[in-house]
Amino acid sequence: MKIGVIGLGIMGSGIAQVSAVAGHDVVVTDVSRSIYEKAVNSIGKSIDKLTEKKIITEKKESILSRIKFTDDYRDFGDCSIVIEAVVENLGMKREIYAKVEPHLKEDAILASNTSSISITSLASTTKRAERFVGIHFFNPVPLMNLVELIKGLRTSEETVQRSIEYVKTIKKEYVVVNDSPGFVTTRIIVMLVNEGAFEYAEGLASKEDIDKALKFGGNFPMGPLTLGDLIGLDTVVNIMDTLYESFKDPKYRAAPILRKMVEAGKLGKKSGEGFYKY
Ligand SMILES: NC(=O)c1ccc[n+]([C@@H]2O[C@H](COP(=O)([O-])OP(=O)(O)OC[C@H]3O[C@@H](n4cnc5c(N)ncnc54)[C@H](O)[C@@H]3O)[C@@H](O)[C@H]2O)c1
Repeated sequence: MKIGVIGLGIMGSGIAQVSAVAGHDVVVTDVSRSIYEKAVNSIGKSIDKLTEKKIITEKKESILSRIKFTDDYRDFGDCSIVIEAVVENLGMKREIYAKVEPHLKEDAILASNTSSISITSLASTTKRAERFVGIHFFNPVPLMNLVELIKGLRTSEETVQRSIEYVKTIKKEYVVVNDSPGFVTTRIIVMLVNEGAFEYAEGLASKEDIDKALKFGGNFPMGPLTLGDLIGLDTVVNIMDTLYESFKDPKYRAAPILRKMVEAGKLGKKSGEGFYKY
């Protein structure tokens, strides 16, 4: 299979990695080649770690040789599946679809890795709603075992089946869910981060103790503030805004402290500082 990946941030680079490890040829793009170079560097480090743990046996150079950068959307023309993983913004995603879709094969699947935006509304901006699907990965992609497949209102059964075939090649578990903002997973996950941020802003406990409480008291692998830093606080705020707008329910209001931190450039691990310093 040839897989296309648009956007090489935290998620896109992971999606490119797991696809290449599975043996697929991968064509990738982002706004600049330097972002691709940064992504390849982090993919290389991740492959090194997985090689040490004997999870990957193929040579790093050979895996990386299957990932090719392009700044020309025509190079997505022979992909079976193109996965968009740009920032969580409806307008931006729409712009990307308008640019890439004219070059896609008739039967190619266009997928979004969005964590909250309605797949039906994204699909409706394309001419291939039947071949549009949500392929929602989790962070960090090489380590997290689930892919949530989201059926838009017009997504065809064949598209779902072909997406499942792809997910099987990358050896991940999957669930197929119906479309609703935040789907099954994100809607709950961001609420944990948001509520943790409210608790922190209210001075209930130190950030370390909020995280420790949930980690040991709830048996979570990490606390909500560490999780927010890992996801990216800008992404968390964008998702909360999407949920708030979609459901018109005040329980989805983003904690003001999160918005303030984003304005200050404290985006979490990816910017070097969020609740914690990295
Ligand atoms: N971070 C998470 O934990 C997580 C988990 C699941 C899903 N998601 C979703 O994945 C998507 C990407 O999130 P991320 O965390 O990787 O974000 P990110 O900010 O790390 O990366 C986004 C990338 O998109 C690129 N981009 C922006 N405009 C572009 C354009 N016009 N053309 C090509 N590339 C462009 C940026 O340069 C950047 O590299 C979002 O929809 C997000 O909701 C994120």
